[in-house]
Amino acid sequence: MLTTSLKILNEHYQTLNNEGQDVIQGLTRTPKSLPPKYFYDDRGSELFEQICELPEYYPTRTEASILRQYADEIAQITGVCELVELGSGSSTKTLFLLDAYERLASYCRYIPIDVSRGIVQSSVLKLQQKYPAFFIEGLIGTYEQALAKLESTFASSRMIFFLGSSLGNFNPQECNIFLRKIAKTLQPGDYFLLGIDLQKPKEILEPAYNDSQGVTAAFNLNMLSHLNWRFQGNFDLHLFTHQAIYNQADAQIEMYLHCQKSHQVSLEALGLEVFFADGESILTEISRKFDLANMQKQLEAHGLKTLKIWTDPKQWFGLILCQA
Ligand code: AVI
Repeated sequence: MLTTSLKILNEHYQTLNNEGQDVIQGLTRTPKSLPPKYFYDDRGSELFEQICELPEYYPTRTEASILRQYADEIAQITGVCELVELGSGSSTKTLFLLDAYERLASYCRYIPIDVSRGIVQSSVLKLQQKYPAFFIEGLIGTYEQALAKLESTFASSRMIFFLGSSLGNFNPQECNIFLRKIAKTLQPGDYFLLGIDLQKPKEILEPAYNDSQGVTAAFNLNMLSHLNWRFQGNFDLHLFTHQAIYNQADAQIEMYLHCQKSHQVSLEALGLEVFFADGESILTEISRKFDLANMQKQLEAHGLKTLKIWTDPKQWFGLILCQA
């Protein structure tokens, strides 16, 4: 029987009364910054899917190769459990896991969660055709909303997974808060599977975020279109250029939009007027690159015990399976 459903937790990212406060805060401080969650309107999610296919952007391919090789081992360690994916996107890499759980037991419950309605809708439709015996319920909302709304599982245990090194887009403090929430959501014996991008030379990292086809530049600039639409803004995309640099000291890629000409921008719905000076930058994203041993310690500090770590032959990417 085909059982599929879609739940919209909140069409907006936050409750209406504080929607956009993070934009006001980011654009009125020096230096200016914007939260990376505003990359992901439907167009931004499509552009991100294109980034994942770029020759220079190695993380998706590398993580997929690890999953392809070890998905059966992961499924055997956890046994049948409910699968909850945070930031599922198009769920492409997840197919390796879903196939492995299908081989393990023909029935499985999979809950993909993402802020982009379009992408969750289309991936749930595709998955329901590929795995007719699975129960698949897409949730549209932020990680916070989703973790708060997860009901107790019908399966004996649950595995939450967070792939693609999305953890790298959180600063250390946000990362701590996130891991605390994960640990609180999991019951003793439940699993957490985490994919992280590992530290490597700048010569590999910088091209991955400054690709030759300009897709990452379009993705970065699209955040301004999204803000224009969401908050009745008048950002002129031609007045900004994209740049990504690797900050070796903090082991993180930093993505910026550089203003090319001094001008004023208004975001009417937020009652905000912002002045941009010629050459001024907006930090739109950090993408931290991790060290496996440190991450293991950090997980441990949240009561998440590492069961197994897998990497690729170049040790560019790591998958950590831990248990609460
Ligand atoms: C979603 N996240 C893990 C990506 C990254 O690599 O940090 C976002 C991204 N930004 C530019 N390219 C990809």
